[in-house]
Amino acid sequence: PDVSAAWAQEVRELAAEQNAVILAHNYQAPMIQDVADHVGDSLALSRLAAATDAETIIFAGVHFMAETAKILSPDKRVIIPTAAAGCSLADTIDADQLRAWKAEHPGAAVIAYVNTTAEVKAESDICCTSSNAVEVVESVPPDTEILFLPDMFLGAHVRRQTGRSNIHTWLGECHVHADISPSDLVGAMTRNPDAELYVHPECGCSTSALWMASSGEFPADRTHILSTGGMLDAARSTSSQTVLVATEIGMLHQLRKANPGTDFRAVNPQASCRFMKMITPELMLQALRTGRDEVQVEPAIAAHARAAVERMIAIGK
Ligand code: 13P
Ligand code: SF4
Repeated sequence: PDVSAAWAQEVRELAAEQNAVILAHNYQAPMIQDVADHVGDSLALSRLAAATDAETIIFAGVHFMAETAKILSPDKRVIIPTAAAGCSLADTIDADQLRAWKAEHPGAAVIAYVNTTAEVKAESDICCTSSNAVEVVESVPPDTEILFLPDMFLGAHVRRQTGRSNIHTWLGECHVHADISPSDLVGAMTRNPDAELYVHPECGCSTSALWMASSGEFPADRTHILSTGGMLDAARSTSSQTVLVATEIGMLHQLRKANPGTDFRAVNPQASCRFMKMITPELMLQALRTGRDEVQVEPAIAAHARAAVERMIAIGK
């Protein structure tokens, strides 16, 4: 008997009985992605969480994402298969550290990447994700100072894209993306000189990728800095035979499904997020059977955090 088919059927039946929607991030294991109702990047999943009619959201992703779903849908039950699925990037700043940073820059606008806790979002003016960070920064008047947190590589990317020098960046990083290094990138490009290149802006190699593109070492028209959702859009229409992908390797599953004719290769095949992979098939089933772990956000914190997330969602509508 096909164990995975039986597992998927049980998951789907339990979800239907409870009027639950299953949302999965692009970095989830392939089995989890395939059983979900929707797979997407953090912005798409936030929008889906805000719009769903389901009573329960089963969030297959990391804790800050499930928390964002709860912030947007406070009357819904939001379950994460394990609350232990954290994020090393979100852990680089807490609310006390942010309050101290704000005190050093009175009047600055605080832009928080969604990879932050609810308490940090509550101290922020507006959130952003990797797919809208540039637009969010551009929504702030040019003469207003910006505190951008917590990812320094994404911060460097928005500084480059907007040409603004009044952006202060928190020195946080995602251990998975920071480990996709310039030497991994050069090695992959040397082995695949005709390939196209997709780089997530959280990567340690994103600055080198752009530098190589601007110096002509690698063709600029084949170098793209993209969020996970942006990578999927690009994959659907690419005519390249090979695409080198610099992000967490769970992404390859959706890219290969989107365009089976192209060979998508990881720049660093070890780039796997252990927090994302904590959502196992067993825990998914347990979440549906037992309702563990339900995500709660203190109402006053949620109200402030919601304002920051909703300002982001309104941009680009
Ligand atoms: P996006 O889904 O916004 O591209 O984010 C990537 C990420 O690292 C989430 O953990
Ligand atoms: Fe956090 Fe990095 Fe994992 Fe994304 S890949 S959840 S940023 S640790």
